[in-house]
Amino acid sequence: MIVCVHRSARATARAAARTVALTLERDPGAVLGLPTGNTSVPLYAELVALHRQRRVDFAKAVTFNLDELRGLGPDDPRSYHAFMRRHFFRRVNLPASQTHVLRGDAPDWRLEARRYESAISGAGGLDLCVLGIGRDGHLAFNEPAGRLERRTHLARLAPSTRRDNAEAFGGRWQSVPAEALTVGMGVILHARHILLVAMGLTKADIVRRALRGPISPRVPASYLQRHSSLTVLLDRAAAARLG
Ligand code: GLP
Repeated sequence: MIVCVHRSARATARAAARTVALTLERDPGAVLGLPTGNTSVPLYAELVALHRQRRVDFAKAVTFNLDELRGLGPDDPRSYHAFMRRHFFRRVNLPASQTHVLRGDAPDWRLEARRYESAISGAGGLDLCVLGIGRDGHLAFNEPAGRLERRTHLARLAPSTRRDNAEAFGGRWQSVPAEALTVGMGVILHARHILLVAMGLTKADIVRRALRGPISPRVPASYLQRHSSLTVLLDRAAAARLG
């Protein structure tokens, strides 16, 4: 595990963007796992900036988002589809046919989950999986539980996770869907490289538990300790309790 601490959130996002750019420089057709959430906003902004400076080319890249809120179609402005279009897809030269996001409005989520996993395997698996971390240690929407799901599935969201997602829902956490489709831990942990990004003091405690605590399904991110190619990028605040 490589842990890099940067002086600011901006510097952390820049380092994350450079890692993605380097991956695509080495392999222009790399398959990327992508997160949503506040942490990813500055990361996508830096990637867009690199793209405008012609320092990264997405023409052959393939992307798979990690999750989507249940019940929301791709055109719903609160969906992760819409988030990705707004912050990233429509600002870079990534052909739409090479981007993938789970359909939150799929009538049969099991079928959707199977379709998505076959698409990931068909693309050769994830070369680089970029992750944020939830305050409770969730990865994508793999919430703390007695046992974690390896496969892509329908997850029940913890109230704290719904609160953290409330902004797009007028600040009302009760309006945030209680369920989401998410890739399972198996998909994440099978990625060839993993880049975990965390910023801010609200993440300091969970970052310590995830990286230094016991490996437990109560802290899904703790399983990252077992990955053979994990890079963790933190700002000083998120690293504050690492010791
Ligand atoms: C969200 C997403 C995750 C994200 C995490 C952290 O609920 N499902 O993929 O990484 O929680 O979000 P944020 O970066 O806003 O703290």
